[in-house]
Amino acid sequence: MIKFLLAIFIGTCLTVLLASFSNSNSGEVSKIEFDSTSLETALLSLGDEKLLHSMPSFDEEKAKLGYELITSGRTLYKGKKSKLISKHFVCTDCHNLTKEFRNVGSESTDDRLSYAINNGLNFLPASTFWGIYNRTSFYNGDYVDKYGEMALDSRDTLENAVQLCAKYCSSGRSLKEWELEAIMHYYKKNELQLSDLNLTKNSKSQLKNNENLNLQEKIDLIKSLKGNYRQSYSATFLGAMPENLRKYGENGNVENGEAIYDRSCLHCHAYKRVTYLSLNKSRLTARMFWRNRKNYSDKSLYQIIRWGTHAKAARKQYMPRFTKEKMSDEQLNDLVAYIKQLAKK
Ligand code: HEC
Ligand code: HEC
Repeated sequence: MIKFLLAIFIGTCLTVLLASFSNSNSGEVSKIEFDSTSLETALLSLGDEKLLHSMPSFDEEKAKLGYELITSGRTLYKGKKSKLISKHFVCTDCHNLTKEFRNVGSESTDDRLSYAINNGLNFLPASTFWGIYNRTSFYNGDYVDKYGEMALDSRDTLENAVQLCAKYCSSGRSLKEWELEAIMHYYKKNELQLSDLNLTKNSKSQLKNNENLNLQEKIDLIKSLKGNYRQSYSATFLGAMPENLRKYGENGNVENGEAIYDRSCLHCHAYKRVTYLSLNKSRLTARMFWRNRKNYSDKSLYQIIRWGTHAKAARKQYMPRFTKEKMSDEQLNDLVAYIKQLAKK
């Protein structure tokens, strides 16, 4: 465990160090080094178009403020404590900050859960902030149904997506300019590096000698790089699970179910952290869910997870729904298998 933590620590230090190197010579593109070149630098060196939110570099101080805003909702700014973004949530209630898949190009729910289990992460309803700087499309798929035009305005603009989420997803307020800037610096700091991609030998050698490539080769290489990571995450809303798909615990993977309960439900509900509803691993709690398994109500796991709840004027905290891409039907059935076992103990 200690070795593991140490490895992470050293890894993080290296990344920070390397990131600051690659940022120190912003603007002009130097030689491609696989461990220390950001994906954006590499793409620009091949003549790719700039991202809409492109930033030449990040400022360590601003990124630190951004980190505090994201994890605590407030920070110390110009010697004063800033106002909370939301009374109800911080960003990390719903978003992880680290890599979530073994392979950055994946959005498989199985990968996401096993990566969470192996790396001690939460299993949350929203996408990770890691690598968000390199994405080009936000609030995709069915989120348009929920946020309408606001989602459309946020589709291609990361800053708008942040504002939408600060105000609406977090039941909070719009960010001040310095707050938005700080969060963008945090995102830039956590952008993808070439070393995060699974590049083929051929792509690597092409990148190394990129000055020798002709236009078509550059275009092809950009395309192949972009096929290596997700530029957006899909979002499919599902309704309450229909009767014929509910397995009520049969053949479910109880271990996965428990992992989901721990890393997802308890993250928000243990000790009523963000809601009045206290969940724990007692038989009583499990029986409540088990009793309601056949219902179409918010007490049924098959419904609450797919619908979540809505923020109301008097109760601003709400439960975000899990889209199909954030929890599969199979995983939902696994969760019920775990609840069944706990209820019967
Ligand atoms: C209560 C849950 C919740 C909270 C709190 C929350 N978000 Fe979100 N956020 C979501 C959901 C759900 C999405 C939908 C898209 C996704 O992430 O897959 C989302 C999407 C986003 C996106 C677009 C991501 C993408 O790839 O489509 C950004 C940017 C974002 N949030 C920023 C923030 C910031 C900054 C905060 C804190 C100030 C925050 N969010 C707080 C739930 C939340
Ligand atoms: C991002 C935080 C978050 C996560 C993750 C989360 N919940 Fe919730 N949940 C809430 C909030 C907030 C409410 C709204 C209750 C309130 O008004 O305070 C809620 C409501 C509920 C309700 C009650 C609805 C009602 O009408 O009384 C149930 C049941 C529930 N959640 C179960 C779960 C289960 C099971 C999971 C795991 C799959 C889960 N929640 C994951 C935040 C969360």
